[in-house]
Amino acid sequence: MGKLKVGILISGRGSNMAALVEAAQDPAFPAEVRCVLSNRPEAGGLDFARERGIPAVAVDHKAYAAKAEFEAAVTNTLLAHGVDFVCLAGFMRIVSPVFIERWHNRLINIHPSLLPSYKGLHTHERALADGVKLTGCTVHFVRAEMDVGPIVAQAAVPVMTSDTPDSLAARVLTAEHRLYPLAVRLIAEGKARVTSETVDIAPDAVDETARLFSAR
Ligand code: GRF
Repeated sequence: MGKLKVGILISGRGSNMAALVEAAQDPAFPAEVRCVLSNRPEAGGLDFARERGIPAVAVDHKAYAAKAEFEAAVTNTLLAHGVDFVCLAGFMRIVSPVFIERWHNRLINIHPSLLPSYKGLHTHERALADGVKLTGCTVHFVRAEMDVGPIVAQAAVPVMTSDTPDSLAARVLTAEHRLYPLAVRLIAEGKARVTSETVDIAPDAVDETARLFSAR
């Protein structure tokens, strides 16, 4: 079976993209990164990808009059690079239902909370304000509603009494960098499949996901 051909959409520093690129450098990893695309030409992550010989393309949303045209350009760029699966990694544009349908069950996102808690922005501030003792991150298939969709994998992260939003974000980000490659690997291996709007994990892969239950 060939490798999953992944395109990664970013808007900024791209540390999750970097984690995926690094994971994919292992010849045994079942996915390859065919291109990195940013809606912001100045995104630092584009240089990281270029330095590793991965096509890195800016598709500037400001250059398009309508969202539909921007998204068509994104899809065409992905297809031109042979992409058959898309990872959102800090992509700060809300994708339209048309785009989501075009990439149905071939489009995933990483979010810095244990969904369905703390959808949206400022997740760490809100978790601290609520005094939760555990937070984490989630990789999920994308659906029309924001931060909703079949959950592939999650990692839990403890909240410390001394945490600030920044210190908590840094701890969660470390977990994100482990979780996203795991999720992509499970999907590429056919061990994580959407069935009736939840993700079934193959029995032999359940232990691997459980090991991330308390990522530090
Ligand atoms: C991450 O926290 C991710 O969960 C969220 O946006 C942030 C992107 O960070 N969706 P990076 O660009 O991957 O470093």
